[in-house]
Amino acid sequence: MDFRSDITGHEPAIAALFATTFTASEGTVEGALIGTLVARLLAEVPRDALRAFTAWDDGQIVGGVIFTPLTYPDPRKMMLLSPMAVAPDRQGEGIGQRLIAHALDHLRAERTDIAVTYGDRAFYGQTGFAPVAEATLPAPLPLSHPHGWIAQSLTDAPLTPVKGPAACVSPFNRPELW
Ligand SMILES: CC(C)(COP(=O)(O)OP(=O)(O)OC[C@H]1O[C@@H](n2cnc3c(N)ncnc32)[C@H](O)[C@@H]1OP(=O)(O)O)[C@@H](O)C(=O)NCCC(=O)NCCS
Repeated sequence: MDFRSDITGHEPAIAALFATTFTASEGTVEGALIGTLVARLLAEVPRDALRAFTAWDDGQIVGGVIFTPLTYPDPRKMMLLSPMAVAPDRQGEGIGQRLIAHALDHLRAERTDIAVTYGDRAFYGQTGFAPVAEATLPAPLPLSHPHGWIAQSLTDAPLTPVKGPAACVSPFNRPELW
């Protein structure tokens, strides 16, 4: 398994991985929504702000995870993990956990303070994410599943309250994604 952080030239393969994975798990409408979201993130978010990590096996992309800035009137650096996908025929092998661990090591080395995501506690809890109240870490849009708002400090400092409002990159400014 080969983990990469340079996505240049791989944008179509990454968008296709997300579209295929979410079509398999959530259906064609969600697959198209997430495939389009990923294509927009890769095309529109400046490369010095976007962090995308991919896993490759035998020349094939088998996993991907994307991070974009969440900005607040706060000096700490926050990154949103979303979305993430492991190829349907490679799920359950530990690729997702290893890819997140690799990505978080990279973000720590860059002095990111807090990683945030919005998803399944059972899965993301295995790589250190824990539920966080919106009063502690405001979300950029109303959350339809507030219990899925989870975060972790990437430094020795505890995750103390962050003052809002929160802002996400523009491809995430769609209520149906939250
Ligand atoms: C969620 C996903 C990224 C996990 O990647 P993976 O490589 O299959 O996961 P791993 O093999 O590293 O980890 C497996 C562990 O996570 C748990 N897990 C995996 N997918 C899960 C899910 N969708 N919900 C809850 N738990 C999940 C498994 O139970 C397993 O736990 P265990 O080791 O205690 O048995 C992958 O299944 C996927 O792409 N799913 C479809 C798209 C999706 O839901 N993306 C995440 C939201 S953005």
